[in-house]
Amino acid sequence: MTEPALDPDSRPGTAPGAAAETAAAPDPVALRERAVGALTAARDRTTLLTSCVADPDLTAQHSPLMSPLVWDLAHIGNQEEQWLLRAVAGQEAIRPEIDGLYDAFEHPRSERPSLPLLPPAEARAYAADVRGRALDVLDGAAFHGTRLTEAGFAFGMIAQHEQQHDETMLITHQLRRGPQALSAPDPDPAPVSAGPPEVLVPGGPFAMGTSAEPWALDNEKPAHVREVPAFHIDTAPVTNAAYLAFIEDGGYDTERWWAPAGWAHVRRHGVHAPLFWHRDGGQWLRRRFGVTEVVPPDEPVLHVSWYEADAWARWAGRRLPTEAEWEKAARFDPATGGSMRYPWGDADPGPAHANLGQRHLRPAPAGSYPEGASPLGVRQLIGDVWEWTASDFLPYPGFRAFPYREYSEVFFGGEYKVLRGGSFAVDPVACRGTFRNWDYPIRRQIFSGFRTARSAAGAA
Ligand code: AVJ
Ligand code: FE
Repeated sequence: MTEPALDPDSRPGTAPGAAAETAAAPDPVALRERAVGALTAARDRTTLLTSCVADPDLTAQHSPLMSPLVWDLAHIGNQEEQWLLRAVAGQEAIRPEIDGLYDAFEHPRSERPSLPLLPPAEARAYAADVRGRALDVLDGAAFHGTRLTEAGFAFGMIAQHEQQHDETMLITHQLRRGPQALSAPDPDPAPVSAGPPEVLVPGGPFAMGTSAEPWALDNEKPAHVREVPAFHIDTAPVTNAAYLAFIEDGGYDTERWWAPAGWAHVRRHGVHAPLFWHRDGGQWLRRRFGVTEVVPPDEPVLHVSWYEADAWARWAGRRLPTEAEWEKAARFDPATGGSMRYPWGDADPGPAHANLGQRHLRPAPAGSYPEGASPLGVRQLIGDVWEWTASDFLPYPGFRAFPYREYSEVFFGGEYKVLRGGSFAVDPVACRGTFRNWDYPIRRQIFSGFRTARSAAGAA
């Protein structure tokens, strides 16, 4: 599955990786098992997130930035109905009148509480009904012949969609005021051997994106060559302690660290610390899933905007990595010149590699997961915190919207910044070295943090 080193002259679509994916016919039994496993894991998580609070908390809007949880639940079912029952299996709509309610483009999040949404019991029954029928479709599915079902793509896409909403619902839980509803064991302390604070990634071409990953989403494709000059990158995400030094140095009151729009934003809204932080006498506390605790110094900073990350980096004499730098740090294998699926290689993520899947409800301390390090020794690229990059969300050369323009294409342009690597809240099925997330640069209710980079001498 490693994306081979690409000839720098190769055109999108003729990349060696693209040819490799047609080589071996996938084993349908294994594909079906993988699809059932991914769909079931997603539903288990959805059920937990929507049953750990009483019904009034499902229909309430906990923040204008978020939908009521009961909207996410029925939207998950509705997307599954549209793609697995209607598009794949050609079935009639079960309840055509509700499609508009759960169309994310028809109604912005702030409006959703006032819609005649299915009440919790009906939303649950609808999602369960769709799932039962989707598993029947999966039972008889052929995993080749159409682009939508090739290698089980539609099933993988729907499992990823549900897991993405499970992360969205976890954000809603974090914003919700009230007693704790969710808990999970803490990650282990970081190992003592931290390694160097940064490493040098050599300059030269690497294969960015993928043409080989069967469940990759449209914006990750195709594999293409990027020339990336040598740069240094942090071996771990920036910690709360390091971020606090910026606050204590008057970072939020010093215009020169900030992009102009970021400065205007923090002035106007009185932003002076990461979201969910407050000062209590001499110490900084934070609220996390209904519990208030002292900000842990060695944990990656969480709930910062792109503007805050960018300002911190400037204050530290550094910069955010570009998206290409981030992906090269995460996937480039100096031994082969190819690009791997993950920093540690091509194996699916396991618990020793990364903090994913809501196993823990917080990032692990900086320096954790040495087994998940890249060949150059960069840790925690996958999991823990989404990492802001310097880059706008743009299509790769040769991009084709698939299967719908509203997943990626309508968001391309200068308004959104790319985040990479996934957080503790992301399931492995929706996380890869190529996976791209995006959001507005002011956003910080998401599980966002960052690491920094600097150009190598002579690499400009
Ligand atoms: C990729 C996380 C930006 O939540 O808006 C969910 C994922 N797309 N349903 C989002 C998504 C459609 C998307 N992000
Ligand atoms: Fe969605």
